Amino acid sequence: MFAVHLMAFYFTKLKEDQIKKVDRFLYHMRLSDETLLDIMARFQAEMQKGLGKDTNPTASVKMLPTFVRAIPDGSEKGEFLSLDLGGSKFRVLKVQVSEEGKRNVQMESQFYPTPNEIIRGNGSELFEYVADCLADFMKTKGLKHKKLPLGLTFSFPCRQTKLEEGILLSWTKKFKARGVQDTDVVDCLAKAIKKHKDIDVDILALVNDTVGTMMTCAYDDPYCEVGVIIGTGTNACYMEDMSNIDLVEGDEGRMCINTEWGAFGDDGALEDIRTEFDRELDLGSLNPGKQLFEKMISGLYLGELVRIILLKMAKAGLLFGGKKSSALHTKGKIETRHVAAMEKYKEGLANTREILTDLGLEPSEADCIAVQHVCTIVSFRSANLCAAALAAILTRLRENKKLVRLRTTVGMDGTVYKIHPQYPKRLHKVVRKLVPNCDVRFLLSESGSTKGAAMVTAVASRVQTQRKQIDKVLALFQLTQEQLKAVQGKMRTEFEYGLKRDTHLLATVKMLPTYVCGMPDGTEKGKFLALDLGGTNFRVLLVKIRSGRRSVRMYNKIFAIPLEIMQGTGEELFDHIVQCIADFLDYMGLKGAQLPLGFTFSFPCRQTSIDKGTLIEWTKGFKATDCEGEDVVDMLREAIKRRNEFDLDIVAIVNDTVGTMMTCGYEDPNCEIGLIAGTGSNMCYMEEMKNIELVEGDEGKMCINTEWGGFGDNGCIDDIRTQYDKKVDEGSLNPGKQRYEKMTSGMYLGEIVRQILIDLTKHGLLFRGQISERLRTRGIFETKFLSQIESDRLALLQVRRILQQLGLDSTCEDSIVVKEVCGAVSRRAAQLYGAGLAAIVEKRREDQGLENLKVTVGVDGTLYKLHPHFSRILQETVKELAPRCDVTLMLSEDGSGKGAALITAVAKRLQQAQKEK
Ligand code: BG6
Ligand code: BG6
Ligand code: GLC
Ligand code: GLC
Repeated sequence: MFAVHLMAFYFTKLKEDQIKKVDRFLYHMRLSDETLLDIMARFQAEMQKGLGKDTNPTASVKMLPTFVRAIPDGSEKGEFLSLDLGGSKFRVLKVQVSEEGKRNVQMESQFYPTPNEIIRGNGSELFEYVADCLADFMKTKGLKHKKLPLGLTFSFPCRQTKLEEGILLSWTKKFKARGVQDTDVVDCLAKAIKKHKDIDVDILALVNDTVGTMMTCAYDDPYCEVGVIIGTGTNACYMEDMSNIDLVEGDEGRMCINTEWGAFGDDGALEDIRTEFDRELDLGSLNPGKQLFEKMISGLYLGELVRIILLKMAKAGLLFGGKKSSALHTKGKIETRHVAAMEKYKEGLANTREILTDLGLEPSEADCIAVQHVCTIVSFRSANLCAAALAAILTRLRENKKLVRLRTTVGMDGTVYKIHPQYPKRLHKVVRKLVPNCDVRFLLSESGSTKGAAMVTAVASRVQTQRKQIDKVLALFQLTQEQLKAVQGKMRTEFEYGLKRDTHLLATVKMLPTYVCGMPDGTEKGKFLALDLGGTNFRVLLVKIRSGRRSVRMYNKIFAIPLEIMQGTGEELFDHIVQCIADFLDYMGLKGAQLPLGFTFSFPCRQTSIDKGTLIEWTKGFKATDCEGEDVVDMLREAIKRRNEFDLDIVAIVNDTVGTMMTCGYEDPNCEIGLIAGTGSNMCYMEEMKNIELVEGDEGKMCINTEWGGFGDNGCIDDIRTQYDKKVDEGSLNPGKQRYEKMTSGMYLGEIVRQILIDLTKHGLLFRGQISERLRTRGIFETKFLSQIESDRLALLQVRRILQQLGLDSTCEDSIVVKEVCGAVSRRAAQLYGAGLAAIVEKRREDQGLENLKVTVGVDGTLYKLHPHFSRILQETVKELAPRCDVTLMLSEDGSGKGAALITAVAKRLQQAQKEK
């Protein structure tokens, strides 16, 4: 009895002594709660640094955006291939995610070895090896005939700008293949796979193993928003608020951040807690000075740390009676699995003896106890450090959510966590102590990170399919050079038809003579009234022209024309116009003044003289009754008479294109073309009289109002009209008419965009598939909004704000698509304008028998003026299609009122001369 007690006493004493001895030796490795809280605070600061745009470049914890934006929602499905490279084992897998809602995942996998000569050899050979393994797997599983999407779990730090790309920042752990750093590993793998002609895979996603782990666990537990690996290496990811991620545009929702916490301390932030053993280990590693936090924690290093410590203790005579073995001197001889075995609850001591003996040592009982305790201190420190960093992440999550208590789940994986007997318990306990206000569930990822990677791939695959559908729609608006050339050619034909007596009536481009026969010469003078009707605004103007100095002063007032007047009776419309004139005269203090008036009327009119114009038909938004077929000058005169308050001398009726050409021609005599890209679309130009068969005389020139908006009304450009153009046409005031105008001008571009958005939404590609009331509203996309959305200076967020102002509740992804749609539609419009303009300048060049033509085009209209890219694309297209013409586009600053007044001045002078004769 006594002997037993004595033995027990002896053993306890022995244990205490050994533990004390080791504790003393490893004093620096035992971290107090205060130190852990301090490390936690340091890591919080590191995360902040990594997330900031300006601080990220120098941050050691890189906080890499992963472009994984949401945890699985159960709607994922499909069949995927997966690679899992970078942990202790390399695997190829096939993952079958079953029908929506059922949450059933089936996996088949195969492990392949990763010999050192492959992972530390040539980069291209590494990826060729990976591709070979994939091909082998596909062959054995009978998948060669299938085209499958692939998700790559790649457990190294990669900078991503999208899901399917990753620039390797540096190798970590055991890998060190040459020529891969700073390149896109997805591209490397894709190239290697391409060499296998018999397999066809599409790499859709690159995910870090932490991300895969988080997603795997989140598939079963939607609270999971953190993923931690404590394996060969160590790392964590978590869901961060987009508004805190400076490096990615957009503020909405969350994105998973791969912290790459293994590099914590690489800037010296942990020097006070690193020990001489850590330094020695680092010096002997593949990446000295790097991954310093990882080297205190993860599986690749724990055993080695223990070995270094044991060797030091032996050297100091504290172990093995001062004896060392050659194995103890050899790097890598103690592995993490040994540490785990030595710390086993019951067999631990026996395991220790066996392991030490295998190392060629002769351990005493005391030695075994001491060594076991070394293991405990090393692995406990690892758990403590992980806990501190994880506590920092949890605190960040809690603060982001502005919660007093956070309830969350952390997905866990990695051999250390899985095989070390005490590790999980210790880690959990310390975390709970450090963040008492977080209720944390630790969930082990049973199936590795692949299931999660498949979820990410499933989402990516859905996005890719959707993208293809969107691209298909946008492609309808992309015109080839040949198509544009064809448009140019057909337009040219229509010009000729319109000018010839025999074909004129059949021509869709009416080529209307305007009776404006010359450009202003600077001798014009006088005071004139002008009306400007048919664009966005209705204006009344007073224009004072002083001769000689080419100076013009203008006063104007904008009046509204209510919809019910635009689409009421003709009488009402003209009475309203006269009312506005009266108001204006009143306002200018000119009541009763008898002034000559020029009437800019931006609709197709058949003229027989400068002051006669029969409206052929309304276009754009006008539809007043009893006007078509009538002389609008007469209608205006009658309305003035009806009012019986003042008399005006209506001298000229002028199309806005003509007014614009004149306005610009006053400054630049080379201006012989007028172009409007506004509510409507039209062009006029100076034509040789001899080519105008509808008007007598062969001398000189006359301006022709082409009314090219009607181009295509005979179906000649139906090959490039889309279903959306047809929809817009059907919903317009003049179905079947003005087809070219409806593909090009401000009044319709927004409508085309709206039709496309409705269609995309119907197919679930936008606005979460919900067609809102606003989207059903005709005319919501005015030219100004289109122009704003397309501005390069606008961040995505501002685009979103514009859409929200329009009542369209869009996500960031939606906003990108809307912007693309606007771009495709407006680009086509500018190109079509270019084709039309190319047709006229080429005609003028040929008619004059010139090798090269230099010409100025006066341009006006809100589309041209406000749109950020329209004029550039127009100019580029003309250059391509009419390379021998040097075309200068000149913006009309003063509107067409000035030009109309100039025309009136000339007409008045001619009238006077006629009278005097
Ligand atoms: C596996 C995952 O379960 O764990 C891998 O599937 C991951 O993606 C690995 O890299 C990490 O642990 P270890 O110990 O293998 O590095
Ligand atoms: C104005 C002209 O500047 O532009 C009008 O004065 C013309 O005559 C108009 O009709 C065309 O642009 P929008 O965009 O107003 O139709
Ligand atoms: C290393 C890698 C990291 C990975 C971790 C766990 O730290 O850099 O990307 O997540 O190991 O495998
Ligand atoms: C419409 C009109 C045309 C006008 C153009 C620009 O196409 O028919 O006359 O020039 O719009 O306003």
